[in-house]
Amino acid sequence: MASLPIESSSKAMKRLAARSTVASDEGPGIVVERRGAKLRRVYRGEIEETFLLGAACSEVFTGPRLAKVLRPALEHQRLAIEKMERGESWEPLSIHTSAGFPGALTGFVECLEKNLPWTGSDWFVNVQQEGATAVWAGVEALGHLRQMAPHPKCSASRSLDVCRVGVAERSYHGTPTTALGQPAKPLWPNAPRTTGQVSYPLPPLSGEKECEEYLRKFDAFLAEHPDIGIFVFEPQWGSSRLARAWPPQLLKEVIARCQRSGAYVLCDEVMCGLGRHGEGTLFLSQAWALEPDAVTFGKSLASGTFPLSGVIVRHGSKAMWEAGIKIQQSHTYAGSSALAYLTATEILRELPGWFDRANRSGQMVRDLLGPVADGKFFRLYGQGLLWGGEFAKTVAATDLKAACHKEGVWPYIVESPSLGLMISPPMDIDEDQLREGLEGLVRVVNRLKAGLPEEA
Ligand SMILES: Cc1ncc(COP(=O)(O)O)c(C=O)c1O
Repeated sequence: MASLPIESSSKAMKRLAARSTVASDEGPGIVVERRGAKLRRVYRGEIEETFLLGAACSEVFTGPRLAKVLRPALEHQRLAIEKMERGESWEPLSIHTSAGFPGALTGFVECLEKNLPWTGSDWFVNVQQEGATAVWAGVEALGHLRQMAPHPKCSASRSLDVCRVGVAERSYHGTPTTALGQPAKPLWPNAPRTTGQVSYPLPPLSGEKECEEYLRKFDAFLAEHPDIGIFVFEPQWGSSRLARAWPPQLLKEVIARCQRSGAYVLCDEVMCGLGRHGEGTLFLSQAWALEPDAVTFGKSLASGTFPLSGVIVRHGSKAMWEAGIKIQQSHTYAGSSALAYLTATEILRELPGWFDRANRSGQMVRDLLGPVADGKFFRLYGQGLLWGGEFAKTVAATDLKAACHKEGVWPYIVESPSLGLMISPPMDIDEDQLREGLEGLVRVVNRLKAGLPEEA
């Protein structure tokens, strides 16, 4: 068993300015080892065992499945290193995109093509490291298309001088310092926000009348903002709205209206994509036939061991080539890693076998957490393997963390705009383990509801 001196771990944590105040060791600590969803970590000066109920969709597989998808990259690396040691030529592990791309790109693109959220042959993909830059790359691509012409579904003439971006009133597309989106609070007082964004109103979660009312509101919004050339939607929100999903028909209609108004539409599936939504396809946009113009992906696509994200754009490859337009959004290691492509290709092959499981596990979440979600003290949102829980305003984050510590479970805790938690375990989470973790979470909710002190 791996061991880690508690003292040196606390010392390192106090130097780290991330997820906790610097100079304290109050953050989630250093993870010593894991088995499935169970972690052993140094937490506030002690070794604790906890149950990881999902870390913002950042994990896809565990144990033997994770080993399987990581194996090709390991073999590739081993072979390359052995050749380097012998002084022979080797196949690149990584190469700057100004010099070329690794051969593993081809297998990745082939696999992606089998999972597109639409039909058609004019698509293209841009590859990045993290989700935030993938969203930007998507917006940039759509910005170029819009510069050439309003959306093909638009019959009216449109001025193309200004192109603002419509984002949801509450949305997260990456870190608030540089990404698009409307987070609950600025990073620091008067911190600059990305300019050029306009917020559209949040939709109802259900109800025919409510949806009709929303469409009227959205039409008025479109009429008021003809300069929005690109809309960004999260079909199922991540942390910014605690996994709430759009009513599918409403979103489909809203997207169609945006396109008829001349705007292009990006669905950000960094969080809900890769089958996590439980609707039986890689992308939710496909399951719900949303017909967006671009879709982002990211998070655990290359298992997180290798960061990989990107955006697929439905049309424009021919038009952009003819106009000589290149995507500017590029970074030193964007799309450069053979290891990332090899792992992502394996994951894309493996994932469809787990789509049903995401749906079944979602039912387990509903069955176990549903009864404690009274709609007042605790509300539950979500589907598949992406869920969020929201607490009443009377609950303090410190109490929630203490209760989770006490019950040995660790969801992703969200502190604003309201206190909540996210559940997004790996797609292959063992069903018994998931049950155990959810039962722990039920005890957390009951403990908080009963106002039990931490040491009770
Ligand atoms: C919906 C959504 N888009 C984009 C991002 C940004 O991804 P990354 O953190 O990899 O930059 C996130 C991150 O959680 C997200 O939830």
